[in-house]
Amino acid sequence: MTKINDTHVCDFCGKSKEDVEKLIVGENAAVCNDCVNLCVDILKDEKIKNFPKEAKLLNPVKIKEYLDLYVIGQDNAKIALSVAVSQHFKRINNPSDEIEIEKTNVLMLGPTGCGKTMMARKIADYLDLPFAICDATGITEAGYVGDDVESILTRLINEADGDLEKASRGIVYIDEIDKIARKGESASITRDVSGEGVQQALLKMIEGSIMRIPSSSKRKHPGSEMQEIDTRGILFICGGAFVGIDKIIQHRTEAKSVGFHANVANDTDTNKVYQDLTTKDLIKFGLIPEFVGRFGLCINVEELTVEQLVKVLKEPKNSLIKQYQYLFDLDGIELNFDSEALNEVAEKAKELKTNARGLKNIIEKALLPYQFDAVDLVERGLKSIRISKDTICGKPAVMIFDKKKNEQKQ
Ligand SMILES: Nc1ncnc2c1ncn2[C@@H]1O[C@H](COP(=O)(O)OP(=O)(O)OP(=O)(O)O)[C@@H](O)[C@H]1O
Ligand SMILES: [Mg+2]
Repeated sequence: MTKINDTHVCDFCGKSKEDVEKLIVGENAAVCNDCVNLCVDILKDEKIKNFPKEAKLLNPVKIKEYLDLYVIGQDNAKIALSVAVSQHFKRINNPSDEIEIEKTNVLMLGPTGCGKTMMARKIADYLDLPFAICDATGITEAGYVGDDVESILTRLINEADGDLEKASRGIVYIDEIDKIARKGESASITRDVSGEGVQQALLKMIEGSIMRIPSSSKRKHPGSEMQEIDTRGILFICGGAFVGIDKIIQHRTEAKSVGFHANVANDTDTNKVYQDLTTKDLIKFGLIPEFVGRFGLCINVEELTVEQLVKVLKEPKNSLIKQYQYLFDLDGIELNFDSEALNEVAEKAKELKTNARGLKNIIEKALLPYQFDAVDLVERGLKSIRISKDTICGKPAVMIFDKKKNEQKQ
């Protein structure tokens, strides 16, 4: 155990008790909180690097463990998604003549900023299959301005480096699927080319059929060569926020139990409402029945609690706090956050109903003045900035200057 002037210092970095937030002193060694955090990060990195490649194909538990490294909460969604993906692997790797296993396309819904797109991206990182992520908003019915549904498959083929066979076993994530809901309940005079029209166009592809797509250019034109791809082996995951569907569910369930109905007041209630979701609600929202019917599994992503939002801020491998600390470190400034400050950021995001998506905005706003003045402040001897709850509420942060440098300047 190392001691300088009779006080304990961290055996890893040599900092003394005064220089760190916490120094843990054992019988033979001492370690500070910074070094403990660093070790945790190193171990996490190792865990990601060493993920067993052979085992990952079939074990849903491993897929979930990988998601856990990045996505906070959402256990039910993670489990359902892991099972769906591993089932997809089983199906495409073990074709049977006797039993044809039908594919289970997945529909994922829940409030904005809770991790839907993120989970899909992380699954893509983890898998060895071609994985295309596309957005339903830019798609229109064939022949109209915008991308045709076939562009989704073109993207998947690109992901598979042009290998059609590989692409036909891939996974497609279509984001913002709620944006192609029918525009109104009744049939309109004008053609709904970006809503119902797209749903109709997607039906065949999602269910599984041989699709013909242009092999070279994006647009179909006479003379361009066509190639065929069988979509029966492609797993489709569609995600969307479905804003307002909770009201539809609530309206339906309340209509059943006339008399007692509590207003939706908190997360648990909102999350409970989503659990009652049926295909009827999706149809009422604007999806056509044939489209809804093609999804075997419907996953709810839950609203994040304040505690979970705090975890989102600091725990994932590339958490926001770590990102900002890195950015300030590049200027030579140590950035610290009080735990009350993180709590305040989470509370604010919760209030704004933007979930994890809103966290960045709140932190950015609080840090903006210091980012702007960083170079000047460092020249004046700034060593570290402490962000407290007050800073998040608009008051100045505590800045610690190097006294010597400051005096020299003056
Ligand atoms: N559960 C979570 N754990 C960790 N980070 C999260 C989580 N949910 C969201 N985030 C963060 O918030 C950002 C936005 O999340 P994401 O894009 O997954 O939202 P979404 O559910 O797809 O929302 P939308 O319906 O608006 O598209 C992500 O980049 C990520 O940094
Ligand atoms: Mg999204």
